[in-house]
Amino acid sequence: SSKKAFLGKKVLITSGPTQEAIDPVRFISNHSSGKMGAALAEAFANQGAEVHVVLGHGAIKPQHGNVHIVPVKSASEMYEASSKLHQNMDICIFAAAVADYAPKDIAKEKIKKAGEGMTIELVKNVDIAASLGLKKKHGQIHVGFALETENEAFYAKEKLRKKNFDLIVLNSMKEAGAGFQLDTNKVTLFSKDGSEHTSEVVPKTEIAELILKEIKNLPLEI
Ligand code: PMT
Repeated sequence: SSKKAFLGKKVLITSGPTQEAIDPVRFISNHSSGKMGAALAEAFANQGAEVHVVLGHGAIKPQHGNVHIVPVKSASEMYEASSKLHQNMDICIFAAAVADYAPKDIAKEKIKKAGEGMTIELVKNVDIAASLGLKKKHGQIHVGFALETENEAFYAKEKLRKKNFDLIVLNSMKEAGAGFQLDTNKVTLFSKDGSEHTSEVVPKTEIAELILKEIKNLPLEI
C-alpha cells in the first residue's frame, strides 16, 4: 500500500548540530535541535524504510524500532560514519547543521584566560553532502537542506547543483515559526527538474511527509 511506500528502502539521515572542539571544555556549534531529522526518520520508518541516523551530540533521538542511531560529535566524525553507510543506501537526507570550519588545533588543556583578546584559527571542514554527492550511484537519491539569511532561493538552487542533490529543502528563516529548535517549519522544495513548492508554517512532522511525497514524485526509479 502507499502507506509503506518505502518498504525495504535504506535511508541515511544526518541530523542535529556538529560540535567542533576548541579545548577539553569548549566547542563551536549551532542551534540545531535534531527535530527536523527526527521527524524525517520517523516518517520513513513508518513507511517501511530501514533508517540510519548519523546524529549530532545532544540532538533529539528519533523513536522507532526501525531507526538505527550512530552518535557523532564533530563534522569529521559525521563524515566518517556517513561514508561507511553511504554506498548501501537508497536515499540520503542531509538534515544536519554541519560546522563549515573547525579549530585548526584542539588545545590539550583548558585554554587559560590571559590577554584582552584571543584568536582561534579555523580550517575548513569536509562538506559531507558534497563529498558523498560525488560518489552518488545511479538510482540513489540525495536530498539536502539549505539555511540562508539572504538571497535564499538563489543560494538554495546553487547548493542543489553544486552538491548534486535531487531535491533541496530551503528553510524560511525570515518566517516566525520556521527554522531551528521549533516544532514547526516553513520550507520551499526545489527539485533538480525545476519544480518548486512552498509549504505553510506546519509541524515538522508534516514537513517530513511533504518531503517524502516529493521524493516519491522525483523522476527517478526508487
Ligand atoms: O534541527 P532543527 O532544530 O529541527 O532545525 C532543522 C534545521 C534548520 C537544522 C534543518 O532543517 C536544516 O536546514 N539543516 C541544514 C542546515 C545547514 O547546515 O544548511 P547549509 O545551507 O549550511 O548546508 C547545506 C547542505 O549541506 C545541508 O544539507 C547540510 O547538511 C550540508 N552540509 C553542509 C556543510 C558541511 N560541511 N557538510 C554538509 O553535509
